[in-house]
Amino acid sequence: MTMKKTTLFTAVIALVVTSVAIAQATGDAERGKQAYYDYACYGCHGYGGIGRHDIANQSSGVMVNEQVFLLYLRARGDQNPAFSTQTMPHYPASSLSDKDALDIYAYIMTLVDYPPQVEDIPALQGILDDAKSE
Ligand code: HEC
Repeated sequence: MTMKKTTLFTAVIALVVTSVAIAQATGDAERGKQAYYDYACYGCHGYGGIGRHDIANQSSGVMVNEQVFLLYLRARGDQNPAFSTQTMPHYPASSLSDKDALDIYAYIMTLVDYPPQVEDIPALQGILDDAKSE
């Protein structure tokens, strides 16, 4: 019994530590916002992380932690020739420093997309109501 409680306790602690590690961003999101524009991330990912390829709402597995994100940015140069469908540029450390990349990481983690609700768009709601009544 005591053993089981200890195991459960350890599991809960592990879960808490993991969650904190996932959410941790050491960069400066304010600086990251500027860097996100300066390095043209917005060109494909939109000003709010919603664009040609969405990255808002913490939806990307690449954003699981800073190390994976950095690896992703750096490794692309080698991967692109193998996967011609991948069109994101390569960002080597010589053009985008780790510091700027981690600031961008912190900024992306703050991006949340709130799509408008149908009820808040009277014209659209009207069309749906009309369609229902026929
Ligand atoms: C020319 C367009 C383009 C630019 C500029 C660009 N990206 Fe991307 N990005 C993509 C595309 C397209 C993908 C999807 C993977 C692929 O096809 O290469 C992607 C994927 C990603 C992903 C992974 C998303 C997932 O699906 O998990 C992240 C994170 C990301 N980009 C961040 C950035 C950051 C940060 C910058 C700026 C430093 C940037 N991107 C600049 C096009 C771009």
